[in-house]
Amino acid sequence: MGQKGREIVKMDVGKLINLLNKALSDEWLAYYQYWVGAKVVKGPMKDAVIAELSLHATEELSHAELLSTRIIQLGGTPVLSPEDWITMTNCGYDKPDDPYVEEILNQNIKGEQCAIRVYSNLLDITREADPVTYNIILTILSQEVEHEEDLSSLREDLVLMLSNRK
Ligand SMILES: [Fe+2]
Ligand SMILES: [Fe+2]
Repeated sequence: MGQKGREIVKMDVGKLINLLNKALSDEWLAYYQYWVGAKVVKGPMKDAVIAELSLHATEELSHAELLSTRIIQLGGTPVLSPEDWITMTNCGYDKPDDPYVEEILNQNIKGEQCAIRVYSNLLDITREADPVTYNIILTILSQEVEHEEDLSSLREDLVLMLSNRK
């Protein structure tokens, strides 16, 4: 990283890189959870759910891109192995072994709620210490908030539709 660019970071850079690598591990797991969820999901409103899950997968991948670019700028190395995703993740991985739409939505809503907690905490840490990272995290957090909203709204429609069928 450029010397000046590193100087303006007013916190332990190694600690920051580690936090960003933990978030990067979350993003890869979230990406795959959405991607494979979109392949296996079954039930009412399947097409709408597949479209949303696929869009979210793409956006989680773009978050991984943003985080890894910043890690490299800070002089770090993005996690190099999938085994590290499992040991470093904050939010874990929910295997979509029940393909029913509502169950898949519940799992991913839970994941988004965890992501919102993680990024909100990262915002607090970087607010004063590193405005550049702060700005990246803010962009990601705004999308995680949208993701939670989109999935919750799909789940609401699903529940309404099923209750009106009698
Ligand atoms: Fe994300
Ligand atoms: Fe998300």
